[in-house]
Amino acid sequence: MFHDPDFTPFTPNERPSWRSAKSNFLENWPPAAYREDYFTLDGIWPLVGRTHYIADPELIEDMLVTRAESFARDYITVGALSSTINRDALFFVEGADWKWQRRALAPAFRHENILALTPTFVDCAKAQADDWRHAPQGAPVDVMNAMSNVTFAVIEKAVLGVAGAFDRGKFIAAMQESFGGVSWGRIFALLRLPNWLPFPGSSKIYRNMRYLYDETARLLAARRAAGGQTLAIVDRMLAARDPESGRSMTDAELIANLYGFLVAGHETSAVALGWTLWLLAKDQASQERLRDEVRAIAGDADIGPQTVERLQFAKQAIQESMRLFPPAAATGRQPREDLMLGSHKIPKGEPVYAAIWALHRHEKLWDEPNAFDPDRFAPEKAKARPRCAYLPFGAGPRICIGMGFAMLEMTAILATLVRDFRFAPVEGYRPELAPDFTTRPKGALPLIIEKI
Ligand code: HEM
Repeated sequence: MFHDPDFTPFTPNERPSWRSAKSNFLENWPPAAYREDYFTLDGIWPLVGRTHYIADPELIEDMLVTRAESFARDYITVGALSSTINRDALFFVEGADWKWQRRALAPAFRHENILALTPTFVDCAKAQADDWRHAPQGAPVDVMNAMSNVTFAVIEKAVLGVAGAFDRGKFIAAMQESFGGVSWGRIFALLRLPNWLPFPGSSKIYRNMRYLYDETARLLAARRAAGGQTLAIVDRMLAARDPESGRSMTDAELIANLYGFLVAGHETSAVALGWTLWLLAKDQASQERLRDEVRAIAGDADIGPQTVERLQFAKQAIQESMRLFPPAAATGRQPREDLMLGSHKIPKGEPVYAAIWALHRHEKLWDEPNAFDPDRFAPEKAKARPRCAYLPFGAGPRICIGMGFAMLEMTAILATLVRDFRFAPVEGYRPELAPDFTTRPKGALPLIIEKI
């Protein structure tokens, strides 16, 4: 169990503020969020409707799993995220459209297909390791930026079957800038204002979005012309047919999903890996234990499909990192009709959030919730916990389609990097949380990296 005051990156507000709504909406979750099952944010700000939050495994299971069909995605999430992901993508579609898209894409995420990608995960990590090996030693390195580069290279290969199809630096920078629209989208949705209203920096964000979607459309056209039948996700999308109607995906759906996978498939894993490296830099004993595990299982050889799943401690370190810093801080729904969640009345259309950030640091569920302890995820301990006490990927039918992919990817990348480099914190650096699309830190996440 490793304690550090930096692992609690902010103090919750007693009363919500607009400043926090823009800079870090998690500050607006009250101190009671970490003790109670349920809280609301309502009636405090004029013009803003009520929003409900649940931080109890049974209530969350009821909403996301048992009665999933009684809920749709909530209008605030739709408003916030549709500034970056198009509404035709799997993430947003509902009902029969969602069912067939999800079924069509599922084979790409079968365990054996993901396991076959292990060499890709490792090659992308090794390319980063080469850069670090040749960089000046001893200067702070932004590991968030490095992890974005690695996971983008991975997702490019998995989605398109080739790497280097994009101007990677330009594409990632434009994508990250587009996330600046998420907090504004959330505020406009809260106030029920149209999301095309201007906000500071909006014209640049819209320009970036046009560039990102134009580039995606260009790649789709090139892929279609090549007529590939590979395991790449794009080929699955092109070949997908609805079993009932026989229809294939429209161009709008294809482009929306292609871009949706490029965004959702790299940003979340990058953020999780960045925080994991920072936590391990603080907790040197766990870092050393992880390195020992990799050497014991793989020696000096590349991590492969046979070894990646045996890296139990590496997996636990990632799980514990996503408990303290879940890339998605909440997942929201709204009921299709008035209903009760436990003893709480939820009127039709009012947003309810599974408050993942609070759930993962909840006093009732975790001993010393703000400490880092990968042993919490030892298999027997994890099994004893309620099913919805830990939710980095959500739960129920809309659980993250990339969960298995992300876990294998992050384990292979982390193991490859930790075996060859020692990570140490930068004296005096304390991260500030600036969540938008994910729970990123404000600015860079610097670490000192030393070759072993
Ligand atoms: C650490 C990595 C990741 C985290 C923490 C994460 C988290 C999540 C969460 C919380 C959701 C929402 C679940 C809900 O609605 O309740 C989600 C959905 C989704 N994720 Fe991930 N994700 C990760 C990686 C990935 C990857 C690698 C891909 C694709 C290759 C991906 C694609 C998607 C898609 C398409 C959805 C929408 C699914 C649907 O609505 O049916 N994610 N993810």
